[in-house]
Amino acid sequence: MRPKEIKIDTKVKLSNGVEMPIFGLGTFQMRSGKETQQAVLAALEAGYRLIDTAQMYGNEEDVGIALKESGIPREEVFITTKLWNSEHGYQKALNACEESLEKLGLPYVDLYLIHWPVQGLRNETWKAMETLLEKGKCRAIGVSNYMIRHLEELLAISDTVPAVNQVEFSPYLYLKDLLEFCRSHKIQLEAYSPLTKGHKLSDPKLEAIAKGYSKTPAQILIRWALQKDVVVIPKSSHPERILENADVFDFTISPDDMKLLDAFNQNLRTSWDPTTIP
Ligand SMILES: NC(=O)c1ccc[n+]([C@@H]2O[C@H](COP(=O)([O-])OP(=O)(O)OC[C@H]3O[C@@H](n4cnc5c(N)ncnc54)[C@H](OP(=O)(O)O)[C@@H]3O)[C@@H](O)[C@H]2O)c1
Repeated sequence: MRPKEIKIDTKVKLSNGVEMPIFGLGTFQMRSGKETQQAVLAALEAGYRLIDTAQMYGNEEDVGIALKESGIPREEVFITTKLWNSEHGYQKALNACEESLEKLGLPYVDLYLIHWPVQGLRNETWKAMETLLEKGKCRAIGVSNYMIRHLEELLAISDTVPAVNQVEFSPYLYLKDLLEFCRSHKIQLEAYSPLTKGHKLSDPKLEAIAKGYSKTPAQILIRWALQKDVVVIPKSSHPERILENADVFDFTISPDDMKLLDAFNQNLRTSWDPTTIP
């Protein structure tokens, strides 16, 4: 378990040596234009140093605008984007990355992810990811929504271990086996939908734990992921919630309460389900 001194700018070291902030802002379903720009700017002003976007979110341009507007040096902010499902295949993937970089207005991203393990194409796409890494278009490459069998397949065909696997992960979807598999292969797990998209924030069991720490249910869910050494990217478009979600570095969930939270698991998926993908 992470000690109490974890901070908003604490970084984890990826397998290729690149350092990634353990905490950041998700931007899925943030509308392009002012909504994304204002949220990203508010997050950067609040000390967030990791921004997670994707080609599919349609807001890469706004992330780039907010980053510039913040005045924070480029190398101090970690930007992730993702290759969408329609762009699999070697040449298409190379082109998709160029398009994302153009939209972001950046020469490189810190992390480029395969958004989804598209059957039949994902391994060819991984070769393009390796090329992009060699060319310096990204500082690290990884995957998203990969279950153990997808990772085993990838590890068997490539010497490049994905630096990160971004999956849905919360006490309500506690993927313990996947977490252990990733740890044993030095793949950093990153939790998406850590707030269950809001669905479980009124769960009385969660509220009771939150009350004990004078924290909100959202803060408990974020802290739970942090204490598992999992990178966590809650999304909010509201400045007050952006601040609330970052106010998780002044307390520690006790080992007993961590165990209680672990037992909340009910395989709840609020996004899509990659377990059915061969
Ligand atoms: N790789 C993938 O396939 C994948 C899939 C899903 C998500 N992601 C990434 O992970 C990020 C986070 O996941 P997510 O957006 O699905 O869900 P989430 O972070 O679990 O929850 C976001 C929802 O919770 C609300 N919320 C945020 N903070 C709150 C608070 N303190 N109190 C009450 N409600 C709060 C937000 O509303 P407001 O915005 O209105 O505040 C929004 O409706 C995404 O934005 C995206 O970057 C990746």
